[in-house]
Amino acid sequence: MTDLAETPAGAAPLRDVGTIRSRAEASGSGERRPITIPAERYTSPEWAAREDALMWPRVWQLATTLDAVSEPGDAVEFRVGNLSAVVVRGADGALRAFQNVCLHRGNVLCSGSREGLTELRCEYHRWCWNLDGALKEIPSRRDFGVIDNDAYALPPVAVGTWGPLVFVNFDADAMPLEEYLGGAIADAAHLGIEDFRCRFEVTVKVPANWKTTADGFSETYHVQGLHPELLTIYDDLGDHQVLWEHVGRSRQLYGVPSPRIRPTPSDQQIWEAFAQVYSTRVGLDGTDPGPVPEIPEGATVFEVLAAQLRRAKAEQGLDLDRFSDEELMTLDQYNVFPNITVLVHPDLLSVLRARPGANPDECYLDAFQFDRVNPGDTSPRAKPLKVELPLDEASFGLVLDQDFSLLRHAQIGLHQPGFTRLTIAPEECRILNTHLNLERYLGISPSEIEGDLP
Ligand code: FES
Ligand SMILES: [Fe+2]
Repeated sequence: MTDLAETPAGAAPLRDVGTIRSRAEASGSGERRPITIPAERYTSPEWAAREDALMWPRVWQLATTLDAVSEPGDAVEFRVGNLSAVVVRGADGALRAFQNVCLHRGNVLCSGSREGLTELRCEYHRWCWNLDGALKEIPSRRDFGVIDNDAYALPPVAVGTWGPLVFVNFDADAMPLEEYLGGAIADAAHLGIEDFRCRFEVTVKVPANWKTTADGFSETYHVQGLHPELLTIYDDLGDHQVLWEHVGRSRQLYGVPSPRIRPTPSDQQIWEAFAQVYSTRVGLDGTDPGPVPEIPEGATVFEVLAAQLRRAKAEQGLDLDRFSDEELMTLDQYNVFPNITVLVHPDLLSVLRARPGANPDECYLDAFQFDRVNPGDTSPRAKPLKVELPLDEASFGLVLDQDFSLLRHAQIGLHQPGFTRLTIAPEECRILNTHLNLERYLGISPSEIEGDLP
């Protein structure tokens, strides 16, 4: 059996926070202490302006997916705040990114997603660049005197990929993406995320700060309150967290109940709760999955659920036999600073991205949904469906809908005069990691965070 709590060699985290269960056992009667964070970081226009000036231009950010830029001539615009990049697949097949600006008078060069481009041409006065960023044409060029073509190449943006995820960094001299992601790449290697294809990308506008939104996907402390049905099928006390510099990871085992639940749920209750939460994955009716199948001698409902999942996916042509039962039933959650949550099951990849809105009290939440293909699948990538929906109309299944619903009223409390600091437990260490990174990028020294990371 694979011990999923082990971290692969070469991926040593900066901190191994362990599990809630192990921390409780280790601490005995020792004092445990929360850490507090200034609330104004979530509400202040001045703080947002500092993020705009010092953080967003210097961090690696998810811009799009390989599926959206798979063919020469594909281009996708990526916006975060006032920054805009265009990611382009060149005629030579290379993936490049540029600041999305016409160097004549500053018009945006590319809006939305484009296909079949042979050049990047501004629609204003029709200045034009090759897909590799070299200046191609200036209409009525003699009126501009002698212009140095090299000086008018499009300003480059660094680009890198992790599996199907395309990242950009507006700082062309930034550390490589591989270094930024640290041990997360090796940690996730067994999951083969390169075999995922993006099916759709949904954007919703959320009435909350981008950090309020991202924080909601950076801890599992809220499972007891917001997702109580998950406790029947998820061992939250065994949730194992590690931190690298820019990435926090939580490894969560499903198909077993939380020890918090007393009395221990029956096999039938676990079967029904798993079907309710994961009906599509296991091919069962979420409201009436029927009786739990006979459990073989020496096995548990955990193995029966894993077999059901394996069988349901096999019926769709997806071979998951290289994954152990433990791997199949595990959710790995990677929180990449500042605003990305990568949720990986062996059969399913979901990625959430929170981008700042027009003021600190709003943001855009983008949800990317992926399907796995078998290794070696050479079928062409299809363009993902891209839609914008009102928050009330977006639905992503029981658990994410509960998360989204909470975000409707997660921000207003942060403005109350009697609330000046958030109080964070060691269990919520991925949120703390975000704030320590924020402080580094914003040049706050010494730290404003009271206390140290666990
Ligand atoms: S602003 Fe683009 S050609 Fe004039
Ligand atoms: Fe949640």
